[in-house]
Amino acid sequence: MRIPLFIAIVLVLSFSPASAHFFPNISSIPPSLLKPNNTAWDAFHKLLGCHAGQKVDGLAKIKKYFYNFGYISSLSNFTDDFDDALESALKTYQQNFNLNTTGVLDAPTIQHLIRPRCGNPDVVNGTSTMNSGKPPAGSQNIHTVAHFSFFPGRPRWPESKTDLTYAFLPQNGLTDNIKSVFSRAFDRWSEVTPLTFTETASFQSADIKIGFFAGDHNDGEPFDGPMGTLAHAFSPPGGHFHLDGDENWVIDGVPIVERDFFSILSAVDLESVAVHEIGHLLGLGHSSVEDSIMFPSLAAGTRRVELANDDIQGVQVLYGSNPNFTGPNTVLTPTQENDTNGAPKFGSLLVHVVVAFFLSFVHLI
Ligand SMILES: *[C@@H]1O[C@H](CO)[C@@H](O)[C@H](O)[C@H]1NC(C)=O
Ligand SMILES: *[C@@H]1O[C@H](CO)[C@@H](O)[C@H](O)[C@H]1NC(C)=O
Ligand SMILES: *[C@@H]1O[C@H](CO)[C@@H](O)[C@H](O)[C@H]1NC(C)=O
Ligand SMILES: *[C@@H]1O[C@H](CO)[C@@H](O)[C@H](O)[C@H]1NC(C)=O
Ligand SMILES: *[C@@H]1O[C@H](CO)[C@@H](O)[C@H](O)[C@H]1NC(C)=O
Ligand SMILES: *[C@@H]1O[C@H](CO)[C@@H](O)[C@H](O)[C@H]1NC(C)=O
Ligand SMILES: *[C@@H]1O[C@H](CO)[C@@H](O)[C@H](O)[C@H]1NC(C)=O
Ligand SMILES: [Zn+2]
Ligand SMILES: [Zn+2]
Repeated sequence: MRIPLFIAIVLVLSFSPASAHFFPNISSIPPSLLKPNNTAWDAFHKLLGCHAGQKVDGLAKIKKYFYNFGYISSLSNFTDDFDDALESALKTYQQNFNLNTTGVLDAPTIQHLIRPRCGNPDVVNGTSTMNSGKPPAGSQNIHTVAHFSFFPGRPRWPESKTDLTYAFLPQNGLTDNIKSVFSRAFDRWSEVTPLTFTETASFQSADIKIGFFAGDHNDGEPFDGPMGTLAHAFSPPGGHFHLDGDENWVIDGVPIVERDFFSILSAVDLESVAVHEIGHLLGLGHSSVEDSIMFPSLAAGTRRVELANDDIQGVQVLYGSNPNFTGPNTVLTPTQENDTNGAPKFGSLLVHVVVAFFLSFVHLI
C-alpha cells in the first residue's frame, strides 16, 4: 500500500503506458470482452457463516484482504484458522461499514466484502479513520456528525498553491471526450473549495499526473487486468494518479443500469473512480457515510459522482470554502474538527492509495 518517494520518481521515468479500453456506454462493450467468472463469488460463498474456532479453506484469503486494508497489522503466513486476530479484524470492519458487529461472516458482511472497493487502507497503524476510530455515537459531542477523515499527518497542498495543474500521459493519446470526464471530476471539488484545476500540456511539471498503465509499471503496485485493482493515487503533494488500462472504462456518464449482468461486472464508470481518487489526491481518507464519495466501496453497477455534505465538509476543513459556494456553511468549530480527525499524527506524506475493485456478485445473494 505504501511506497517510498524515490520509487515514485523512478516510475515516471520508466512506465508502460497502456492503450486503455474506452467505451461510450455499456452496450458498446463487445461481448468478447465480457468474461463471466464466478470464481470470486464461489470463494466468498463458501465462507458464509464462518465464525471463531473454525478452520475453513479460504479464510487465509480473507485475512490477506483484511491485511491489505489495515485490519490485520502484520503480514504473516496466514492460515485458514478463524482466530482471534481475524475475529477482531472482522468486528472492526463491521463497525466501519455500519454492519452489526457479530464477528461472524454473515450474509450482510459477505455482501460488503465482495463489493468493489478502494484499496486505500481503512486502518493505518492500528488506528481506524472510519467509524471504529471515533467515539461511539452520543458518548461525547452529539453535534459531531461528520465522518470524513484525512491521511496520517493531514497532508494537504500548500496554502500558496491553490491553482493546481494536471496533465495526461502523452503516450495514452486520450481523446477530448475522455479528458472532459476528468475535467468534470475536478470541477466537483473546485466548486466547493478555493482550488482550481487547469490542464497543462507539460506532463513532467504538472502537479497532478494522470496516466493509464497496464500490468507492472514499476511502482510496486502492478495492475492486474480487468477488475481487481482499478487505479491508485498518492496523497498530497504526491499527485500521481494511475488507472488500470485493462479495465473497460465507460466514459459518457450514462448511468450504469443493471440490465446486463455481466456488463456491469466488466465495466467501470470512469467519472466515479476519478472523483473518489481526486479526493485522495487532495488529502481525504475514507468515510463511513455510505453515500459519500469517500466511502470505500461501490455496489455493483453504481455510479457515484456527486459530493455529499460529508465530502464537502472534509475538503473544506483542509482548504476552506469557495466564496462562490452557495451550499450550507460547513465550517466546523474547532471541537468538531478535532473529533473528526480519527487519524493519528504520524506517518509520512507518501501513503500510496490503491483502488481495488473486486468482482461483485452482490445481487445473486
Ligand atoms: C452506446 O454507444 C453507441 C456507440 O456510440 C451508440 O450507438 C448507442 O446509441 C449508445 N447507447 C446508449 C444507450 O446510449
Ligand atoms: C476467474 O477468476 C480467478 C480468480 O480471480 C482467476 O484465477 C481465473 O483465471 C479467472 N478465470 C477466467 C476464465 O477468467
Ligand atoms: C506457510 O505455512 C505452511 C504450513 O505451515 C508451510 O507449508 C509453508 O511453507 C509456509 N510458507 C511460508 C512462506 O512460510
Ligand atoms: C442488525 O441486526 C438487527 C437485529 O437482528 C437486524 O434487524 C438488522 O437488519 C441487522 N442489520 C444489518 C446491517 O445486518
Ligand atoms: C467566483 O465567481 C466569479 C464570477 O463568476 C469568478 O470570477 C471567480 O473566479 C470565482 N471564484 C472562485 C474562487 O471560483
Ligand atoms: C483542537 O486541536 C488543536 C491542535 O491539535 C488544539 O490546539 C485545540 O485546543 C483543540 N481544540 C479542542 C476544543 O480540543
Ligand atoms: C506506523 O508507526 C510506525 C512506528 O510508530 C512508524 O514508523 C510508521 O511510519 C507509521 N506508518 C504510517 C504509515 O504512519
Ligand atoms: Zn479510496
Ligand atoms: Zn502505479
